[in-house]
Amino acid sequence: MSTATRSTPLFSRNLRKQYPTAVRGEGCWIISDDGRRYLDASGQAAVVNIGHGVAQIGRAMAEQSGKIAFAHTTQFHSEPAEKLAARVLAIAPKHFRNGGRVYFTCGGSEATETAIKLTRQYFLEAKQPSRYRIVSRKQSYHGSTLGAMSVSGNVGRRAPYAPMIPEWGHVAPCFCYHCPFDKTYPECNLACADDLDAFLRANDSSSVAAFLFEPVVGATLGAAPAVEGYTARIAEICRKHGILVIADEVMTGIGRTGKPFASAHWGLEPDIILTGKGIASGYAPLGAVLVAPHVVEAFEKGSAVFTHGFTYQAHPVATAAGNAVFDYLEAHTLFERVTPAGQTLRNALAPLDSHPQVGQVRGLGLLQGVEFVKEKSTREPFPKEAGIAERIRQAALEKNVLLYPGQGCVDGARGDHVLLAPPFIIMPEECQLIADALRYALAKVFSA
Ligand SMILES: Cc1ncc(COP(=O)(O)O)c(C=O)c1O
Repeated sequence: MSTATRSTPLFSRNLRKQYPTAVRGEGCWIISDDGRRYLDASGQAAVVNIGHGVAQIGRAMAEQSGKIAFAHTTQFHSEPAEKLAARVLAIAPKHFRNGGRVYFTCGGSEATETAIKLTRQYFLEAKQPSRYRIVSRKQSYHGSTLGAMSVSGNVGRRAPYAPMIPEWGHVAPCFCYHCPFDKTYPECNLACADDLDAFLRANDSSSVAAFLFEPVVGATLGAAPAVEGYTARIAEICRKHGILVIADEVMTGIGRTGKPFASAHWGLEPDIILTGKGIASGYAPLGAVLVAPHVVEAFEKGSAVFTHGFTYQAHPVATAAGNAVFDYLEAHTLFERVTPAGQTLRNALAPLDSHPQVGQVRGLGLLQGVEFVKEKSTREPFPKEAGIAERIRQAALEKNVLLYPGQGCVDGARGDHVLLAPPFIIMPEECQLIADALRYALAKVFSA
């Protein structure tokens, strides 16, 4: 009996929804227990970079497990963790390479938590105990644990927990399509970046420790990249106020936007980078915090002990999966594939541009978003209740294409988009299937 027709002991994401059971993966495809094949146009949630069902990753994990599956990080290091840390630093922005360190976690939220606490302790080590607030941006997502929620600006995901999370300050996103200042780039002179400066000047910057942001906003804005000059201005403002720059590259890291880290598109040199998702391509739960040498040095010269930790951090089997994924990316030159494959996907989507309800197709590499609007000329969004993004997802599913829908890109409530983040191995004919499913979905949802 398929799980679509029986009850489940799992506490599902949505207790009213029936979920098919995924039993196999093959490249860009997921196969359920009833034999249905789904094209994974979003890499699930921008996770599956190398594709599904790569048996050698499992073999590498089994091999590591047979040697040593677990050794507690209070007592041991492991070879796969050391090796993966070195590999991640080698592709990070240059300043990480001479003395940077990597803290492995079990995912993105833990990476955000770690960065928040690391930043706080850095300022204690640096004898600036007043600094603890982490300023971030509206319409952003940094994870689901309470610390990560406090920096997230995703209104819907924060709302139920609002009384439980501190408000350290959220400034404007960099989002030209719905500019929060109603300005146009470049005449705006980066008003969104200057919003951080204004906020810091007005809100006791001596208590602020860091600014945390996604260089390309994934789930919340639907693949909205920073504009030229933005990250440089942000870095300048942070340096001026003596606070750290934290780039959340949980979604964009490890090649998804066409560079190893999206920061490299603009030469940004963050003090801390968060990554996750693609680092083990979904084969193991893994995240990472990259720490720049000068931050490491403050700990080395100070207490040397980071008061933080997870039982499963730097897990030998998870990091073995990370190494095997890296091997696969390198052996199949998949990093190099992202930019041309992203262009192929964009070309396939191009005919949709003229649809009256397609506001914008945007993104970088294989992280792309399609935003739907009620009125193209004014960019007016649909009301939230219309549930457009979810309806588009459902319609595309009829064509067996999996999309990642999102709502709230305009003001936290209104604004509908779908995120596309297929595996790096996506073929032109699969890009066409995605475009065809979207065309079908547009026709179905907007036919009335
Ligand atoms: C930018 C960003 N940061 C953090 C997270 C949280 O990662 P995780 O779900 O692995 O905890 C996500 C997840 O979607 C993300 O997109």
